[in-house]
Amino acid sequence: MRQLRLAGFLTVTSVLAAPGIAAPEHKNLQVLPRTITNTQLKTMMEGFTEQLGVKCTFCHVLEQYEKDDRPHKADARRMIALVLHMKAKKALYFGPRVKDGVISCGLCHRGQAEPEPFVATLLPNLAFLAPPTPAGSRPKNLQVLAKTTTPLELQKVMDGFNGQLGVKCEFCHGTEMDKDDRPHKADARRMLRLTLDLKAGKATYFGPRVKDTVITCGMCHRGKAEPELFAP
Ligand code: HEC
Ligand code: HEC
Ligand code: HEC
Ligand code: HEC
Repeated sequence: MRQLRLAGFLTVTSVLAAPGIAAPEHKNLQVLPRTITNTQLKTMMEGFTEQLGVKCTFCHVLEQYEKDDRPHKADARRMIALVLHMKAKKALYFGPRVKDGVISCGLCHRGQAEPEPFVATLLPNLAFLAPPTPAGSRPKNLQVLAKTTTPLELQKVMDGFNGQLGVKCEFCHGTEMDKDDRPHKADARRMLRLTLDLKAGKATYFGPRVKDTVITCGMCHRGKAEPELFAP
C-alpha cells in the first residue's frame, strides 16, 4: 500500500517530463500535470488522506472534485507545489541517500492535518560564550549563510541546529569550526539551503497563515538527527 502511494508521486514527477496524452476528464488541475492519469491521481489523493489523516471531504465536496470551494484545497495546491519543488531539487537539498518517496506530505504532516509546531529547548551553548575564534572576528567559511553574518547571529543559528536536531556541536564540527571535516556538516549545508529556500518561498508554498519561525529544521527533524519517516 505504502509503495503504491509513493509510486503515485514518483510517476507524477516522471509524467512532468514526458510528453503525455491529455486526460480531459480532469477539469481543474493547476499544479499537477494535466497528463496525469486517473489511476495516478487516485493513488496520490489516497496518499493525501493517509498522510494528513483526513477524508476526501477535507478538501472536496464529494463528486465535485474540480470545484474550488474548500479552503483546504487551496492550501493543498500550494503544498503540492512545495513537494514538487523539493523533488525537483532533491540532489541539491537532500543528497543521494534520501529516497524519492520520502519527500512527501507525510514528511511534515505525519498523519495530521496540521503539523504540530516543534518547539526546541534552546539552551545557549557554552562553546559560544568562549568563542573558538578571536572575539569580533568574522566567520571564514560560510557558503550558504550570508558572509555578513555576525558571530552573534551565527550563534543563534547554531544553537538552533543543536536543539532542532537534538545533537551537540561535535555532530557537525571538529575542533576548528571553519573546517569541512565532518560529513554531517555537508548534509547540514544542503539542508540549510533547503530551509532558506522554503522561507524565501513562504508565500508560494505555505501561504499567509504560517509563521516564519515554523519553517525550520525542526519542522522535519523534531529533535532528531535523522527525521523519523512516516509510514501510515
Ligand atoms: C489535502 C487536500 C486533498 C485531499 C484530502 C484530497 N484531494 Fe483531491 N485534489 C486536491 C487538490 C489541491 C486538487 C487539485 C490539484 C491541482 O490543481 O493540480 C485535487 C484534485 C482532485 C481531482 C481532479 C479534479 C478535476 O477534475 O480537476 C479529483 C478527481 C480528486 N482530487 C479526487 C480526490 C479523492 C477521491 C480524494 C479522497 C481519496 C481526494 N481527492 C482527496 C486536494 C485534495
Ligand atoms: C515541509 C513541510 C510540509 C510539507 C512537505 C507539506 N506540508 Fe502541509 N503544512 C505544513 C505546515 C507547517 C502547515 C501549517 C500548519 C498550521 O497552520 O499551523 C501545513 C498546512 C497544510 C494544510 C492546512 C491544514 C489546516 O488545517 O489548516 C493542508 C491542507 C496541507 N498542509 C496539505 C499538504 C499536502 C496535501 C501536502 C503534500 C502534497 C503537504 N501539505 C506537504 C507543512 C508541510
Ligand atoms: C547540524 C550540523 C551543525 C551543528 C549541530 C552545528 N553546526 Fe556550526 N556550522 C554548520 C554548518 C553547515 C556551517 C557552515 C554554514 C555555511 O556554510 O553557510 C557551520 C558554521 C559554523 C561556524 C562558522 C565557522 C567559519 O568560520 O566559517 C561556527 C563558528 C560554528 N558553526 C559553530 C558551531 C557551534 C559552536 C555549534 C554548537 C552550538 C555548532 N556550530 C553546531 C553546521 C552545524
Ligand atoms: C523538509 C524536511 C527537512 C528539513 C526542513 C530539514 N531536514 Fe535535515 N533531513 C531531512 C531528511 C528526510 C533527512 C534524511 C534522513 C535519512 O537519511 O533517512 C535529513 C537528514 C539530515 C542530516 C543527516 C543526518 C544523518 O544522521 O545522516 C543532517 C545533518 C540534517 N538533515 C540537518 C538539517 C538541518 C541543519 C536543517 C535545518 C537547517 C535541516 N536538516 C532541515 C529532512 C529535512
